[in-house]
Amino acid sequence: MIAFFDSGYGGLTVLKPVMDLLPEYDYLYLGDNARAPYGNHSEESIKKFSEQAVNYLFGQGVSLIIFACNTASSVALRFIQEKYLKGSKEEDRKVLGVLIPVAQEAMRRTGNNRVGVIGTKATINSKVYEKEISKLNPEVKVYSRACPLLVPFIEENWHHKPEAISILKKYLKPLKSCNIDTLILGCTHYPLMQKEIKKTMKNVNILQSGEITAKSLRDYLERHPEIESKLSKNKSRKFLTTDDPKSFKEFTEKHFGMKIALPEKVSLS
Ligand code: DGL
Repeated sequence: MIAFFDSGYGGLTVLKPVMDLLPEYDYLYLGDNARAPYGNHSEESIKKFSEQAVNYLFGQGVSLIIFACNTASSVALRFIQEKYLKGSKEEDRKVLGVLIPVAQEAMRRTGNNRVGVIGTKATINSKVYEKEISKLNPEVKVYSRACPLLVPFIEENWHHKPEAISILKKYLKPLKSCNIDTLILGCTHYPLMQKEIKKTMKNVNILQSGEITAKSLRDYLERHPEIESKLSKNKSRKFLTTDDPKSFKEFTEKHFGMKIALPEKVSLS
């Protein structure tokens, strides 16, 4: 089984393209909706929440966990990898994030070496994209902007309302004058506002984690048959939330066009 973890609904923008590209596997999705947004929390809290999620998922027999969350990937991934995976055999347990393949894709796509990044406060403060991009090409200039109010709007299903769109425009305004040709949606929730983002950032490549993660996971599984061979393949899909299962089901069916069984409510703390 492959598990996807996010603070809430954002990771579904990654799970969906992964399921489309690799439909044969069993998938488990965990949304910690009760504690979203993570991005406004301290580093210590984000690490604690992520650790609780990882513990829970390993306890369910999952061997491969994808942090479908830029915030957890920026702040907690390395900590988790060092604490839980050091010394264990590669094929036993694995936790992967969503950042590096997106940074690599940005390098392929930018023509003028000016890249924008929007994300949560925690992701932007971590400067993770600046660090990854400068490793790949130190010539590239990165312009980043935290957008802390977008995830609460999305979690409330308010993201297509005029109030949300006007705040989005305010966040994007400074980026419009930076002459970027590529914009990384550095939060997996933001593709849910992709239409509005595209309208404001005309003629800019908009990169989101979903399809990029799907392709990089496919390549990863091809390169690691010892991990791939351990994954169950019965096309089962299971959803877990720490908040209201009915709202989770409604949101998922409305915005992702898939019918799902009522999620199970779980407690992580
Ligand atoms: N979807 C998340 C991300 O990619 C988490 C957002 C949040 O909970 O603040 O950063």
